[in-house]
Amino acid sequence: MADRRVLVTGGCGFIGSCFVRMLLDRDPGAEVMNLDLLTYAGNPANVASVERSSRYTFARVDVREIASLKPWVEQCDVIVHFAAESHVDRSTSENAGSFVETNVGGTFAILEAMRRYQPEARFLQVGTDEVYGDVEAPQAPDEMALLRPSSPYSASKAAADHIALSFERTHGLDVLVSRCTNNYGPYQYPEKMIPLFITNALEGLPLPLYDGGTQIRDWLRVEDHCEAILLLLDSGASGEVYNVGANQEPEKTNAEVTQMILDCLGHSESVVEPRLGLRPGHDQRYAVSTEKIRALGWKPRRDFSEGIEETVRWYSDHRTWWMPLKSGEYRAFYDAQYGRAAEIDKV
Ligand SMILES: NC(=O)c1ccc[n+]([C@@H]2O[C@H](COP(=O)([O-])OP(=O)(O)OC[C@H]3O[C@@H](n4cnc5c(N)ncnc54)[C@H](O)[C@@H]3O)[C@@H](O)[C@H]2O)c1
Repeated sequence: MADRRVLVTGGCGFIGSCFVRMLLDRDPGAEVMNLDLLTYAGNPANVASVERSSRYTFARVDVREIASLKPWVEQCDVIVHFAAESHVDRSTSENAGSFVETNVGGTFAILEAMRRYQPEARFLQVGTDEVYGDVEAPQAPDEMALLRPSSPYSASKAAADHIALSFERTHGLDVLVSRCTNNYGPYQYPEKMIPLFITNALEGLPLPLYDGGTQIRDWLRVEDHCEAILLLLDSGASGEVYNVGANQEPEKTNAEVTQMILDCLGHSESVVEPRLGLRPGHDQRYAVSTEKIRALGWKPRRDFSEGIEETVRWYSDHRTWWMPLKSGEYRAFYDAQYGRAAEIDKV
């Protein structure tokens, strides 16, 4: 592979850090510049295994600030833009403004920096399938489907996709967009369902299951997502959007995923705490057509049952990674969301 300098934003988060580790491991010609603001979701421990590499540089940079981006953007060949506010539940409270500022404003700022300082670079916008909104079974929207985002999170991501593509059409920049389904795996901040349920179960806390557990997500192992991004950087076409997803058959409800986690841990379902009512902004079902990226040669390689087992084992074996995260800011969020800070105190 030719040498390339890859600027990664949000590379201390869950997916971005997996991508950084994978890229450095698989491409000896790649240099990584990781720009991350280290918000509550950014964790230097996620990239500890690569921080001594001579091909890795980290800088604490806010992607909303064009002037701070300039020295980094002007020396890169590729930009992979992960940095975002990513948790739907946080976007449905009074925090929605930060989703617009980071996800829309941050995407604009980095594209504008690329337009000004490095217009020959390639830009990949890491998007989400949630922009398609609620998808009725058995439909699976392709990349031409109407965007119908339900939450401020998915609406901000849809806006970011449009801004990215507008820079391709208006300025002729080399821009492409991926839209992936829900990811799971190691190093995911324990506010998201799978690590939340695994770590709560390990701590003897209840598992707050909303909406009767009927909602359906097309869970994809994070490494499969990062392999899709690597392929798109090499083979994706400018101006195009590519859905990425597991296309699980049969589809899994959240209740079934919860049961799989409990089975791995040997816990009874009595620890599940049903939460009544629908969470605002949450869709019932997501699914996407992945024919377009499969035609480029990508497919998910990891089985969901094995992936869940490995993920449960990872969180069981890495308590020193997640236990410190479940304090401070996390507890304030958990208390507001679930009213359970008092229970965490008891443990
Ligand atoms: N998690 C999923 O299931 C999923 C699925 C599809 C797409 N995505 C998208 O993938 C991307 C990464 O998701 P994730 O789950 O790894 O998120 P995450 O919340 O784990 O990480 C986000 C990272 O962005 C950084 N960040 C936030 N604001 C920043 C700013 N202003 N400047 C610089 N850095 C900033 C954070 O510090 C953190 O390291 C997001 O764009 C998300 O929308 C996520």
